[in-house]
Amino acid sequence: MSHHLVEMQDVHYTYPDGAKALRGVSFRLTHGETVGIIGGNGAGKSTLLLHLNGCLMPTSGAVRVDNFPVSTATLTHVRKTVGMVFQNPDDQLFMPTVEEDVAFGPRNMGLPSDEVNARVDAALETVGALAFKHRASHRLSGGEKRTVAIATVLSMSPDILVLDEPTAGLDPRARRHLIELLKTLEHTLIIATHDLDFVLDVCDRTLVIHEGCIAADDATEAIFKNVELLDQNNLEPPLSMQRKNSPTIF
Ligand SMILES: Nc1ncnc2c1ncn2[C@@H]1O[C@H](COP(=O)(O)OP(=O)(O)OP(=O)(O)O)[C@@H](O)[C@H]1O
Ligand SMILES: [Mg+2]
Repeated sequence: MSHHLVEMQDVHYTYPDGAKALRGVSFRLTHGETVGIIGGNGAGKSTLLLHLNGCLMPTSGAVRVDNFPVSTATLTHVRKTVGMVFQNPDDQLFMPTVEEDVAFGPRNMGLPSDEVNARVDAALETVGALAFKHRASHRLSGGEKRTVAIATVLSMSPDILVLDEPTAGLDPRARRHLIELLKTLEHTLIIATHDLDFVLDVCDRTLVIHEGCIAADDATEAIFKNVELLDQNNLEPPLSMQRKNSPTIF
């Protein structure tokens, strides 16, 4: 029996219009790993993530989470285990207020109202968004929405946090705050992003996706030192590494 927390076995996914987004993706990861998913636009990162909580089911191949095959029969368990923060926060926030959005998950889990309230406050506090509690979700700025979207997932206490472009639209301070927050979490983290400095800072392991396939799967530093690999996959070294390697100009 496998002790891997998340496993994809030769996953192919073709969208209904015929777009082949995943073409044989396989990987395994264990508890506590922090994994970056990087690759150019349209490489298949979001499609891959959407398989991890059953938003999409493979055209062929299999996905396992916590030793359960992801299927309609296991969806409730899978969604308790995997918290997904979507690329577009408007897909996550649909209630009239921030408080109701963050309460939605725990309430659906059937938790008593005291516990729901405590979780809402704790999740908002964690992401530094307690001040937005009584605001209308749809009136928040893009970055504020993204922060609250993360709280809607933290309030369910999932084992695995999956984040799609979490730093997009965040100002430098909010981005730094998110990095510090993610470093304190003990969750297994899977993060798709174009923010390569963020990956370098937060993720021990990185998968490079190219045209629906895994082009590389290695320690993050090894990936970013492989200039040829980065070039072949429309990527560049993180800025912090570029600076380290450039000559000092006086
Ligand atoms: N709903 C959809 N219907 C049809 N094709 C889609 C759909 N969503 C994505 N695709 C296609 O699937 C491929 C992978 O898209 P995906 O959104 O997974 O890429 P991505 O790596 O997340 O890109 P980005 O960096 O731009 O977010 C692309 O060719 C895209 O055009
Ligand atoms: Mg995407």
